[in-house]
Amino acid sequence: MKKNNMYIIWSHPRRDSLTAQVVQEIQGEAVRQGINVSTLDLYRSGFDPVLREDDEPDWNNPQKSYSPEVHRLFGELEDKDTLVLVFPVWWYGFPAMLKGYLERVWNYGLAYGEDSVLKHKKIRWLALVGGSQAGFIKFGWEKNMTDYIKGSMGYLGVEDANIDFLYNTIGVEEGIDDREGHYQQLFTQARSLVGSVLE
Ligand SMILES: Cc1cc2nc3c(=O)[nH]c(=O)nc-3n(C[C@H](O)[C@H](O)[C@H](O)COP(=O)(O)O)c2cc1C
Repeated sequence: MKKNNMYIIWSHPRRDSLTAQVVQEIQGEAVRQGINVSTLDLYRSGFDPVLREDDEPDWNNPQKSYSPEVHRLFGELEDKDTLVLVFPVWWYGFPAMLKGYLERVWNYGLAYGEDSVLKHKKIRWLALVGGSQAGFIKFGWEKNMTDYIKGSMGYLGVEDANIDFLYNTIGVEEGIDDREGHYQQLFTQARSLVGSVLE
């Protein structure tokens, strides 16, 4: 089997968050499966999510040189087969940190435009949702987020992409009596993502 290189991009202000633990679970499982893993911890890497003039796309110039940080971070993707993005759902979408990463780093001429090195990668999105799946479905959020992310993947020409949700991350839903068991189930679900990139 071909050696797989995985790159996990994640966003959370707290090192001991559930999001951070989920990242560790995926990382541990990937290592057990013989995958090389590296991570980009957006908060602790000092990443600035604000798109400024230097990184604004020039639609007439797909060769535009962006800030060194953008080229450095986009360069980190080049030798990876699998990209995994892990984040808590905030206001039914991405945290600003992750949104800023996408706006700046997955830029015109790099991630999209004439050609993209992302096209041939496996991309997995894992969203941690405070509320229940029933609530998320009731108000259309699961479909909205799935369509939005899959739509963006289609725009980039990525064929092998998937989004998955970990629900009840706050663990308050009625019927969740065994909190520890509930979190273990979420970790199991998170680890199963690794199998999908080995297929
Ligand atoms: C600013 C903010 C916005 C949030 N918005 C939502 C939301 O729209 N829907 C939801 O179900 N949970 C929402 N939550 C709850 C988070 O999804 C939840 O805290 C997270 O998944 C738990 O993981 P963590 O312990 O790693 O933060 C929000 C939390 C924060 C801090």
